[in-house]
Amino acid sequence: MSRTRSPIVTIDGPSGSGKGTISRAVARRTGWHLLDSGALYRLVALAGATAGLESVDERGHGEIAASMDARFGSAPDGSERVWLDGRDVTEAIRSEGAGQGASRVAAWPAVRAALLGRQRAFARSPGLVADGRDMGTVVFPGADLKIFLTATPEERALRRHKQLKDKGSDVSLPALSREIAERDLRDQTRPVAPLRPASDACVIDSTGIKIEAIVGRVLELMTARCLWP
Ligand code: DC
Repeated sequence: MSRTRSPIVTIDGPSGSGKGTISRAVARRTGWHLLDSGALYRLVALAGATAGLESVDERGHGEIAASMDARFGSAPDGSERVWLDGRDVTEAIRSEGAGQGASRVAAWPAVRAALLGRQRAFARSPGLVADGRDMGTVVFPGADLKIFLTATPEERALRRHKQLKDKGSDVSLPALSREIAERDLRDQTRPVAPLRPASDACVIDSTGIKIEAIVGRVLELMTARCLWP
């Protein structure tokens, strides 16, 4: 099959579905680039808060989304880092508060429109693994393989709880479950680019399945579509 652009695999799903871990692992195994689109929304929320913007200021956040200097790279020790206007914000954008802020700014059309071009610019040779909520539906509707990852709300809350605990955050499980349910509802019911599987997505339920098995399944699907190796 001949292709005029680099191949793209999209991995969408709700918070805690494992899409970040799976996307990262698939990118590492294939040597493809990775787009962590949620990090861009988190950066907009953080930059807005740092600039003292009102949380209801859609236009201000849209301008930030268009103009912020966001860089993704790695530190000398190989760890992944994110910089916002020259400041290392890798840890700051991972808090549950930053996730809630991201979910709020992500509901605004001005912010989503401003981030569209930035996200598409990640598509480069040899290929891209794009992780998010609307990768397969809006940002890369012509992607070569679309995955939609799900897991039960209980399992997703447990995973996020473990992740945050490993990072030293002490969030209670019931509070986290409530926040995840709130965020799911906002992400699924917003009028622009709501979280839902693309009509041509392969839906994978990751409940109770080991990460390696899901990564293996995605790689199999990539091979079946002659995308990799
Ligand atoms: O994947 P994440 O938890 O880092 O995403 C944070 C928030 O950003 C999420 O609640 C919704 C929003 N988001 C989005 O609307 N579209 C994307 N493609 C990625 C994230």
